[in-house]
Amino acid sequence: MGKKGFIFDLDGVIVDTAKYHFLAWKALANSIGIDFSHQQNEQLKGVSREQSLIKILAWGNKKLSQDEFLSLMAKKNEAYLEYISNMDDSEILPAVNETLKYLANQRQPIALGSASKNSKQILKKVNLLEKFDAIVDGNNVTKAKPDPEVFLKAAQAINVLPEDCVVFEDSVAGIQAANTAHMISIGIGEASVLNEADFIFKDFTYMPPGFLYKLTTLKKDAINKDDRSNQHSS
Ligand code: BG6
Ligand code: MG
Repeated sequence: MGKKGFIFDLDGVIVDTAKYHFLAWKALANSIGIDFSHQQNEQLKGVSREQSLIKILAWGNKKLSQDEFLSLMAKKNEAYLEYISNMDDSEILPAVNETLKYLANQRQPIALGSASKNSKQILKKVNLLEKFDAIVDGNNVTKAKPDPEVFLKAAQAINVLPEDCVVFEDSVAGIQAANTAHMISIGIGEASVLNEADFIFKDFTYMPPGFLYKLTTLKKDAINKDDRSNQHSS
């Protein structure tokens, strides 16, 4: 049996920070006269800070100088850092601790694959930094999801072949990145949004008993496709 590797996205998978990104972007967009909906926010999940601002400006048909652009990026991050300044481990999403513990007990390599440049700071705040064998984040990549760079680098960092990696993601861009990297993609969130994922669960508590064990031992095709439909039971 070959070695498997487990790659976790951060925002919206490990911690409930997706709501803070939304609030910070909404305030920023509104401050320059651009509307910002939840539906637009879905398209920013998993997308880098820079690419997110480019999209928002395009939606609002706004052109800025380089200086203005940089100052808005800094402003968004300031607001976001303010939101996360009081975070603690109560904001770890359901059954994430148990999942990480199970994988560590099984001696499975665990990596972070996030677009965020704030990932280490957040993991420290919620006391999870030492649970990861490798951290690959927005500081280590040049191409934003849906490009697979972040996950391929994470696989390399834990020394596991891409096809033996499993990715947990809450964003459409991240699922596409995992699929392009030929990894098993597991959507954490709504099936209507993440329908390109190999498997989808509302959150980690919805994974059927034995599913994680299957992930540690089997290739994608051998995992029972029935597990796809388990997202609505607990
Ligand atoms: C991703 C989030 O994880 O990180 C995006 O889903 C965010 O919403 C991106 O824009 C970059 O994060 P940060 O913390 O570097 O601004
Ligand atoms: Mg995410």
